[in-house]
Amino acid sequence: MNSLPWHRCLALLNLKTLATTHFQQIHAQFITNSHNSPTLYAKLIQLYCSKPSPLSIKISHLLFSRFQPPNLFLFNTLIRCTQPQHSLLLFANWVSKTLLLFDDFTYVFVLGSCARFCSLSTLWFGRQIHVRVVKHGFMFNVLVPTTLIHFYASNKDVISGRRVFDEMTVRSCVTWNAMLTGYCSKSKKAKDFAFDALVLFREMLVGINGVKPNDTTMICVLSACSQLGVLETGACVHGYIEKTIYLPENDVFIGTGLVDMYSKCGCLDNALLIFRLMREKNVLTWTALATGLAIHGKGNEAMMLLDSMRACGVKPNAVTFTSLFSACCHSGLIEEGLHLFHNMKTKFGVEPCIQHYGCMVDLLGRAGPLKRSI
Ligand SMILES: *[C@@H]1O[C@H](CO)[C@@H](O)[C@H](O)[C@H]1NC(C)=O
Repeated sequence: MNSLPWHRCLALLNLKTLATTHFQQIHAQFITNSHNSPTLYAKLIQLYCSKPSPLSIKISHLLFSRFQPPNLFLFNTLIRCTQPQHSLLLFANWVSKTLLLFDDFTYVFVLGSCARFCSLSTLWFGRQIHVRVVKHGFMFNVLVPTTLIHFYASNKDVISGRRVFDEMTVRSCVTWNAMLTGYCSKSKKAKDFAFDALVLFREMLVGINGVKPNDTTMICVLSACSQLGVLETGACVHGYIEKTIYLPENDVFIGTGLVDMYSKCGCLDNALLIFRLMREKNVLTWTALATGLAIHGKGNEAMMLLDSMRACGVKPNAVTFTSLFSACCHSGLIEEGLHLFHNMKTKFGVEPCIQHYGCMVDLLGRAGPLKRSI
């Protein structure tokens, strides 16, 4: 490679199909030509982080430490792009030195890492950051408290998330979605929180600050309706989606949410209707319908679904099989269920896991032959 000017390097770094050896070559160009624009380095850090390995992590840290005094933009890039556990360590290392004055973006990124890396210590760590953020006055950027809510919700502390939410004076659609998603994530107390989600959604609709729900909001609200089994509310939400957002048949995620909601609220006909109207269906859509058929004791229809799925070129996953086995259980299709169990690996390439063995035990237990082995 001849000597490259920095704008050519940047253009190269923006290519989508670079391998590690390529960015090492470009990196070498930086060094031989003594390019030292932080923009270029940030791009390079981002690339190294996108292919995580012990070496690339080390290099990305070296790239950051090349700048003296340390550059905040590069620090933020590293915090944002590196794997969450490294990002938390890096932050912890630098927080005690006073060489870098963090800005609101640093906090958004480090809280984002806390949200992605859930463990008991993360909750503690994130709480410390929460205190710092308040103390240093970074709540002015709406993204900071919003990411805090997201962090608390991911770490299953919805109550603390709600406290942050209530203290905010300005909220964006993303803020509402973070809170709603927190309420809708499956947890032990899912039912209590699903109700809170619906109440919050109502507040969002009557809100005076003009925040409009978007697709993420609606998927969340549909999931709350299906957890609670409230058909009337679910149907209202359906109407709202049709009126305000778009035709649900055109959006695979909203469509799937509707299929799931109608089948769990006991209205299989509507679930089927939506399913037929949907232009694009993914494995989640098919699985939602299979679950619906299982709940309604339509085992044979569920088994036929598998053939149609194949015909449409959609590969079933582990959850699809759980639904199908549960359909067999509810309809007493012992032989069919066993047959499918034996074929799931060879014919469909899905390895049976503990849930599937559980289904088989249930299936055989219901039929009587307790001593039969799979
Ligand atoms: C809806 O909001 C979420 C954030 O809560 C965002 O990720 C998503 O892209 C938004 N959807 C649209 C269509 O803008």
